[in-house]
Amino acid sequence: MLKLKKISLSAISSFFGFTNSFVWSYTQGPMNTLKPTIVPLTDIIPQKLPLLMGAGPVPIPPEVARANGIVISHLGETMRKVATGIQDMSRYVFQTSTTKIFGISGPSSAAMEMAVTSLLWPGRKALVLNMGTFSGRFGDLARGVGAEVTELTEDGRPFRVEQVKKALEAQKYDVLTLVQGETSCGVKNIELPEIVKLAKSMGLKVIVDGVCTISTMTFEVDNWGIDIAVVGGQKGFSSISGVSLIAFSEETYEFVNNREVRMPHWCLDPRRAYKFWNLGEYHYTAPVPGVLALYEALRLITEEGLEQRLERHMTSSKNLQLCLEVMGFELHTPAEYRLNSVLAIKNKNNVPVKELIPYLIKNHGVEISGAFGLDIFRVGQMGEQCRPQNVRLLLEVLGAGYKHYGVTLNTQEALAEFDRIQVKNSSL
Ligand SMILES: Cc1ncc(COP(=O)(O)O)c(C=O)c1O
Repeated sequence: MLKLKKISLSAISSFFGFTNSFVWSYTQGPMNTLKPTIVPLTDIIPQKLPLLMGAGPVPIPPEVARANGIVISHLGETMRKVATGIQDMSRYVFQTSTTKIFGISGPSSAAMEMAVTSLLWPGRKALVLNMGTFSGRFGDLARGVGAEVTELTEDGRPFRVEQVKKALEAQKYDVLTLVQGETSCGVKNIELPEIVKLAKSMGLKVIVDGVCTISTMTFEVDNWGIDIAVVGGQKGFSSISGVSLIAFSEETYEFVNNREVRMPHWCLDPRRAYKFWNLGEYHYTAPVPGVLALYEALRLITEEGLEQRLERHMTSSKNLQLCLEVMGFELHTPAEYRLNSVLAIKNKNNVPVKELIPYLIKNHGVEISGAFGLDIFRVGQMGEQCRPQNVRLLLEVLGAGYKHYGVTLNTQEALAEFDRIQVKNSSL
């Protein structure tokens, strides 16, 4: 059999001018690739998993972890119930009545990409409000589909409606993109509802990234008139990364449905996503465990109640901010436009943050995040991060970590303040 193969492939190879040895190595299988050394996952991952207190991903509750270990068929009656449940609960969390709300097998950036690709193509113009890494990403995505992009830039500050008005009056645009919370520097676009309203009144479609803010602070798709909103799983939802959500207003979905320019993406085509999410038909094989995890995450949010959840996030974040200040830290973002879900904190005494982060993971089992070029570190207040035991541990290990680098902070005072607040809250 092998010989026959050799002869026939030899004939082909000589016809195309390949060497005989090439054919031999091909027919004999991948002998040059040796079996790799096997390292069990348990040898790679620490026995005690670090508590994720950075900018995301965040810890997931046991219900979500359990769901993430289940595989069922991606089509059929059971999955229909799951998909419908996800849509119902997502409408509540996004505060929208749209029927065009879909899960995406991909990171939040894929949801951003679906949004941008749906509304932009060569000849269309986008105004991108860039105040950091993630809001700036919209610019890259829009240029990627051949749109004409103008970026307004704000470094560490939110956009003001007047400033956006000026830009919109100076030139005509089709689409405006912005983020509610810029994770990279801990800034919140406090005039977002006014900016959306203005852009809509001038005929633009508006895409909003709510990746680190949906379910951690007020976000109202319908009341604010947002055309497309996106979120990922690994932040406020306390679910896994890689399964995201996108909501199109009915009108915007119709606009996309009627576009004559071909969609460049197949996976990220909302009309194909509609088939799976609304009709139960095949689009691609959905990441079933991730979808089930998202269901459980949404169920926990819904059970807690959105208002209660937002309140819990705000209170936890405010307490943490206060205790960080008692400790001796200064917050990077002024209180007026500080993001409560991701706090940027100024480093002290030139402690090498890049070394501090692995030190804390290795010696204290807690992970925090660095920053993109700034001398700050970032801690998250999203989902399960907003539990008193997690916040207290974070304060404790920050104190220990800085002490290791020779900086003494008021850690005991901060912990005492934290405990005082907890006692006060529990007696209310
Ligand atoms: C505000 C914001 N937008 C978008 C993203 C991109 O998310 P992903 O890494 O899931 O693509 C992030 C990630 O941190 C983010 O914080």
